[in-house]
Amino acid sequence: MSLFNVYPLFDITPVMGKDMYVYDEKGTEYLDLYGGHAVISIGHSHPKYVEAISFQVEKLGFYSNAIQNPLQEKLAERIVTVSGCKDYQLFLCSSGAEANENALKLASFHNGKRKILAFKNSFHGRTSAAVAATDDSKIVAPLNTQHEVDFVDLGDLNSVENTLKQNETCAVIIECIQGVGGLDQSTTEFYQGLDRLCKTYNTILIADEVQSGFGRTGDFFAFQRHGLQPEIISMAKGMGNGFPIGGILIHPSIKASYGLLGTTFGGNHLACAASLAVLEVLEGEKLMENASKMADYFVEKAKDLPNLKSIKGRGLMLGLEFDFPVAELRKKLIHQHKIFTGSAKNPNLIRILPPLTIQKNHIDAFFEALKSEL
Ligand SMILES: Cc1ncc(COP(=O)(O)O)c(C=O)c1O
Repeated sequence: MSLFNVYPLFDITPVMGKDMYVYDEKGTEYLDLYGGHAVISIGHSHPKYVEAISFQVEKLGFYSNAIQNPLQEKLAERIVTVSGCKDYQLFLCSSGAEANENALKLASFHNGKRKILAFKNSFHGRTSAAVAATDDSKIVAPLNTQHEVDFVDLGDLNSVENTLKQNETCAVIIECIQGVGGLDQSTTEFYQGLDRLCKTYNTILIADEVQSGFGRTGDFFAFQRHGLQPEIISMAKGMGNGFPIGGILIHPSIKASYGLLGTTFGGNHLACAASLAVLEVLEGEKLMENASKMADYFVEKAKDLPNLKSIKGRGLMLGLEFDFPVAELRKKLIHQHKIFTGSAKNPNLIRILPPLTIQKNHIDAFFEALKSEL
């Protein structure tokens, strides 16, 4: 049987990872500035992470959500402490799309409305409502078009207000820094205006922090830089450092009832152990501070690159936008210089999403390779 062929693959087979590097079956070392798509937060195979998962799987890897699981309570308490998002409640699932799907559904349950407002160039995942709120017609099946979604330009507060005024929109979903779309962001004034309009028109604000959350931008969540109070915050990627876990933080104004949301795998023992280890290392090794410092160093070094149009993003969620398509350049970086980078919808942009453990020598190696190819 063959695999369903939906991914264009690089001809590289990583079999091992350690901190900032992955190794193929011949032992070739690759510097990972892509983090498996912003997933690797505390570095590949961090010893504390390996120990926590190994310990837990020997005890109890999984049981369903029909029993008490104190690891979930502990994870909720740790996320609230480390993020500073006090009083929020936690619902756990297994991926980013699932987190957004539950967030949208919960918003609709809460205020009884059914339309979604999303932003042009957004990406929220591939489940039914999440993909409908994603601005990419190629991945939206006819089945998904049953959802009614208004797409507005990022930064266009007037269009947001004109839509919310109709009183049909259950939720506004936003990535404060657009990931897949190419690292665009708006102003604090816009984000605060959006928050205000949502509250005025009884619409739930969902901050999609699937990619930007768990410290990647130097803040625990990207929206925190703008002083927002979203009612729902979705998380995944960096939350498990590769172990599939996602979740939503839910403001206390939204009430739970039995059966409202549910999942078989979400919040299982192993997933909680993985995420607790991530938080321990994130705090213990001050990785958010490191993300900010290394981002400053990266941006400074990028300033004198030839052919560079702009540097986008924040923290370790960065984009280098050139005045030419970068597909060939990325191939050279991977095959000749053994450096993984990411692509975006914008063909001229290289995405940098490394583990938050990155150091100056890794950044130096990247710029040396880049300069030799420009
Ligand atoms: C901002 C954002 N939201 C949601 C998702 C979907 O996450 P997943 O692939 O885990 O379903 C992604 C994935 O890239 C993302 O970047």
